[in-house]
Amino acid sequence: MPAFDHLAAPLARVQRPVTDANVLPNALYTEAESLEIERRHVFNPGWSCLGFAHDAPGPGDVCPVDHLGQPLLMVRDAAGTLRVFENVCRHRGMILVEKPQKTNLIRCPYHSWCYSHAGALKATPHVGGAGINAHDAIDPERTGLTEIKSAEFFGLVFVDVSGTGPAFADWIAPLQTRWADFAGRALYHGGASSSFTLNVACNWKLAVENYCESYHLPFVHPGLNTYSRLEDHYHIEPPGFFSGQGTRVYAPDLGETSFPDFAGLPSVWDTTAEYIGLYPNVLLGIHRDHAYAILLSPEGHETTRERVEIFYATQEAATAPAFEPLRQKNAALWKAVFEEDIFVVEGMQKGRRAPHFDGGRFSPAMDGPTHCFHAWVAERISSGIAPGD
Ligand code: FES
Ligand SMILES: [Fe+2]
Repeated sequence: MPAFDHLAAPLARVQRPVTDANVLPNALYTEAESLEIERRHVFNPGWSCLGFAHDAPGPGDVCPVDHLGQPLLMVRDAAGTLRVFENVCRHRGMILVEKPQKTNLIRCPYHSWCYSHAGALKATPHVGGAGINAHDAIDPERTGLTEIKSAEFFGLVFVDVSGTGPAFADWIAPLQTRWADFAGRALYHGGASSSFTLNVACNWKLAVENYCESYHLPFVHPGLNTYSRLEDHYHIEPPGFFSGQGTRVYAPDLGETSFPDFAGLPSVWDTTAEYIGLYPNVLLGIHRDHAYAILLSPEGHETTRERVEIFYATQEAATAPAFEPLRQKNAALWKAVFEEDIFVVEGMQKGRRAPHFDGGRFSPAMDGPTHCFHAWVAERISSGIAPGD
């Protein structure tokens, strides 16, 4: 992709120490080809997020997902195991599943080849001629669905499309260590009222870089700022694949009642909450009584779908009718906060079209977590762009 050869120098500047670094270059926000570059060099090599585990909640549930233009399929088998396959028939390439549904077999609508939930080719009607359902040239053992490495974590489904990333457990270990107090706990999804989607007219990276920093809180989130001020926040910026911010004064105002906490948490979590961008496309929030995940799906280089799902510490908090008003209130609070961010991420998208904008500068004191993300993206793209790419 010769159009991106000129990115090498700007990407090198992004990877300088934060005191001297530029932000990512405009082309990665304004050029349609940027999404192709990112699919190849940022999303596909290693782990990215595909969807939520509850998209395919029960045995036989299948859920098609367009992952940056790549048709994938989540499949939950009878034993509860989730797998991800390419959503394409091994015969002549028909898309297998168009919408979420419950299945016994995955049947191609074109010539009715059928696959098990484990991806095995189970039926090939008339493949050997009318009434003959086998042919020596078609070996079912070698014609199953193509599986994509996948893993569940935090109610999310991650995929390694290239298959070249580290084992998921190794990759996620640093975040699990950071949040070890929550490790191994079930997260209970709060149902329909704990789920909402925002469609935002910006590049997906702007959503990550805005989420990572607390610098904008006093100006963009005046409500949050009344109880959680800028000086109550700290940066989370380890080297690696996540960054964000935390607050020491988590104190939501939900009125008279409250949700039950995760049992046995250390007291530090009484007032601490953390907000982490898990690169490339997940934003997480964790608190003593609930957690949420935001899946960022790039729908184009200037449009992003933000899907927000909220989870609770107990089944009762997540499903009991008595908690429904509180769940609604909590979802409305978060929705209001995330909507407050829209004008800035959309504004930065428009700003990227200024012809002389040089990529801007970071505040070394306040933008460290955002620089971590930019440097990570820059490193992935730099190392992936081969001469003539
Ligand atoms: S393309 Fe699927 S059965 Fe022919
Ligand atoms: Fe914000």
